[in-house]
Amino acid sequence: MIKIAPSMLSADFAKLGEEIDSVKSADYLHFDVMDGVFVPNLTIGLPVLESVRKITRMTFDVHLMITSPYSYTRRFAEAGADIVVFHVEAETSDNITKAIKELRKLGKKAGLSVKPGTPADALNPFLDTLDLVLVMTVEPGFGGQRFIPEMLPKISQLRREIENHSLICDLEVDGGINPETAKLCIQAGANVLVAGSDIFGAQDREARIAELRSGARGE
Ligand code: DX5
Ligand code: ZN
Repeated sequence: MIKIAPSMLSADFAKLGEEIDSVKSADYLHFDVMDGVFVPNLTIGLPVLESVRKITRMTFDVHLMITSPYSYTRRFAEAGADIVVFHVEAETSDNITKAIKELRKLGKKAGLSVKPGTPADALNPFLDTLDLVLVMTVEPGFGGQRFIPEMLPKISQLRREIENHSLICDLEVDGGINPETAKLCIQAGANVLVAGSDIFGAQDREARIAELRSGARGE
């Protein structure tokens, strides 16, 4: 089944509660945490997550674009994240293993992400311990960018790895997702689609979520 994760980065933060309510038919809520170091932008962090955790039971998919994420995984788990996704480029191999173990111990799901310039192989040593892998389909840092089609073979490669090893691991894509690119990503093997500007910019957000999920265009 295809899951849709609206990226709250494109929501109006002055009315976050209403914005969350407007996308409640989605599967996950995607929160982008940026530290101004790993990526050239700053966004939200722990206090915002703690607040919104009180108003919804939806699954929180927290995408950490921060350096040394292992030092924060526990705190994000405690702030209400259900899935904590961090970047393979941002941490040592030892700490990646420790972060995954810690998240699992806390009853959370662990995800690992690759930037566009990082090969899928970088995820291989951790694949059998992950609940989710995230292929960035734009350079992380900002919403509203154009989808990079060269990422499609990376998605297919990871789908093959997951199937060849019979792993239970979601394959998520993030960046430039709209009904057209959603279809390409689903064909390549993605099963979780993050979309920010496309969903929050739509006249009818719930209809757009259904459209993205169906992988169809104009149907
Ligand atoms: C970018 C973020 C994305 C972003 C996606 O670094 O990880 O989640 O909000 O935005 P759109 O869907 O507008 O490309
Ligand atoms: Zn994201």
